[in-house]
Amino acid sequence: MGAAALITGASAGLGLEFAKCFAADHIDVVLVARRKDRLDALAAELVAAHGIKAHVISADLMEPAGARQLIADVNALGVDIGWLVNNAGFGTSGLFHELDAAKEAAEVQLNCVALTELTRAFVPGMVARKTGRILNIGSTAGFQPGPLMATYYATKAFVNSFTEALAYELRGTGVTATVSCPGATATEFAAVAGTDTSKLFAGDVATAEQVAAEAYAAMNEGRAMIVHGLRNKLMAFGSALTPRAVVLSMAAGMNRRA
Ligand SMILES: NC(=O)c1ccc[n+]([C@@H]2O[C@H](COP(=O)([O-])OP(=O)(O)OC[C@H]3O[C@@H](n4cnc5c(N)ncnc54)[C@H](OP(=O)(O)O)[C@@H]3O)[C@@H](O)[C@H]2O)c1
Repeated sequence: MGAAALITGASAGLGLEFAKCFAADHIDVVLVARRKDRLDALAAELVAAHGIKAHVISADLMEPAGARQLIADVNALGVDIGWLVNNAGFGTSGLFHELDAAKEAAEVQLNCVALTELTRAFVPGMVARKTGRILNIGSTAGFQPGPLMATYYATKAFVNSFTEALAYELRGTGVTATVSCPGATATEFAAVAGTDTSKLFAGDVATAEQVAAEAYAAMNEGRAMIVHGLRNKLMAFGSALTPRAVVLSMAAGMNRRA
């Protein structure tokens, strides 16, 4: 394995929990997000608890040049990236034609383009070293279209599809790709997306710690995909067998604000 794990979106929610998983396994981390104060605090905590090296890079991956700048910053650190966790992401909610145009584009930039650029930058080194793991955070949202969160669901369909295809291509190289597909999980996501009052977040919501631990284990096992929780598994795979009109109306119902 390479020397460090690069984790985007490590300042909150799932990303913060992924950082703890790597540190507990004595793997050095490169923590990335916009809120540097939070990353610095997490880095200090992980160094003190586990004696690892924790690098902090503040980056805005919604900016078109953000991923390229991050790749340059990581290369300047001089560490091999043996694990890449493409976790940073956000959602928006509402009628697409009424949403802020620049924010919808930025959502695609962060959730899809930056993820693709970072994967393309770090996979060749892993393949050359014949070892490495990619963990992309997709979603159960990626299994069907999502009226009232149209862009978000579409970005996660991209992440799910891209990662499964990548996992297939990488067979036999020593490098694996895993997509984690959580359902509603208690993080800052719902407040950022404006969906905290939707049905989606009304019922049983998983904890970030639980989802991250499962995804981390699936990555280590080299599984191509993990859908978290029985209800999410049934919904994800059931949607493929359900008439599209029913799927669309169910998704719209889940995404509607109370
Ligand atoms: N929570 C759920 O219900 C759920 C379900 C399925 C999938 N997911 C996916 O899980 C992943 C993690 O989300 P979460 O639930 O942990 O949400 P979260 O608590 O809001 O965390 C999002 C992370 O992404 C970072 N981020 C946001 N915009 C960024 C930008 N422009 N540049 C760099 N980093 C940025 C945030 O840090 P800064 O704000 O400091 O930049 C934060 O660390 C996302 O891809 C999300 O789509 C979440």
